[in-house]
Amino acid sequence: MVSGPLDQLGRPLRDLRISVIDRCNFRCPYCMPADLFTEDYAFVDRTEWLTFDEIERLARIFVEAGVRKLRITGGEPLLRPGIEELVERLARFPEVDDLALTTNGLLLGRLATRLADAGLGRITVSMDSLDPETFERMSGRRGSIDQVLAGIDAAEAAGFTALKINCVVQRGVNDRQVMDLVAHFRETPHILRLIEFMDVGNRNGWNLEQVVPSRELRERIHARWPLKALPPEYAGEVARRYAFADGAGEIGFISSVSQPFCGDCSRARLSCDGKLFTCLFAGAGHDVMGMLRGGASDTELSGFVAALWGARRDRYSELRGEETRKGKKIEMYRMGG
Ligand code: GTP
Ligand code: 5AD
Ligand code: SF4
Ligand code: SF4
Repeated sequence: MVSGPLDQLGRPLRDLRISVIDRCNFRCPYCMPADLFTEDYAFVDRTEWLTFDEIERLARIFVEAGVRKLRITGGEPLLRPGIEELVERLARFPEVDDLALTTNGLLLGRLATRLADAGLGRITVSMDSLDPETFERMSGRRGSIDQVLAGIDAAEAAGFTALKINCVVQRGVNDRQVMDLVAHFRETPHILRLIEFMDVGNRNGWNLEQVVPSRELRERIHARWPLKALPPEYAGEVARRYAFADGAGEIGFISSVSQPFCGDCSRARLSCDGKLFTCLFAGAGHDVMGMLRGGASDTELSGFVAALWGARRDRYSELRGEETRKGKKIEMYRMGG
């Protein structure tokens, strides 16, 4: 049994998601709309990025507090220069049993082998549509589906045989193309996960009408390819898993709007400028960068993390609509989902 602090709702700290950069080479309208995120947008200055030494040090402190799963995110994490060196450092923690990275896939063609050699365990690729025009629209015309498919091929060739493919479904935008994605990834070892469009951040123009409840998609898919429910792989898993009854693999549904999963949430998030968040929907982060650069000792940092986690009460998705509409939320591009 792993020890470590429990929060106010009895949830342990098991999962640290590390955003290594807030920039992205896509402009997905639901995350970084191109008209707001222009070339002169004030992204975090490089001098304010946590260095690899700082990330490694913080990761060690989190591992000591019970973290067993690390995920590298962005923005687009493959834009962070030398990312494979960070992977190599994080892969050295014997306690960590899952080291993963979430990417839009554009740079995978170039980097997949280096990431594999550095010891990365898993890759998740975001992909909202196979249709070239929809894909271009959803990536803000910064990338093509062919490049991402080539990235997936490169990842397979590098030994990442079972990828997760994340698709954010928006009604009227890409919901009609979901079946094509399902057909494409059936009979492969990759796991497509259909994600309900969430009200993260303040700028993506979210409204409930654009959310396609997982149930609707599941029924549509089940009518064509019967599904059977699978048990969760681990406590706190965000996706509900289903197998294709004909043995063609697995699919997942992430239903944070219609079926929130805060009850088991063991995730902490670190932004690239060293702010610590205890919920994806938190308004403000806690300044660990300030502590690091102010000379805090490991004991002080551990004490801070334990106290922060111990006081945690977050369960935004369960409260959504009740008391949470007010107030500013952290933007997804700083947090990587
Ligand atoms: P696996 O470890 O592969 O199961 O994936 P994961 O649980 O780390 O999920 P991933 O990073 O691929 O995120 C998939 C989707 O779930 C994204 O849209 C995330 O924003 C959403 N998501 C992940 N964690 C949370 C969370 O703590 N709260 C909410 N509300 N959504 C989340
Ligand atoms: N709702 C749901 N998922 C989102 N992501 C980004 N913005 C949203 C949103 N508003 C997803 C990305 C990526 C994952 C890390 O988070 O598409 O797959
Ligand atoms: Fe970039 Fe991912 Fe945001 Fe799209 S969702 S703009 S790929 S960080
Ligand atoms: Fe965890 Fe917050 Fe997401 Fe709930 S809304 S699952 S508490 S990150």
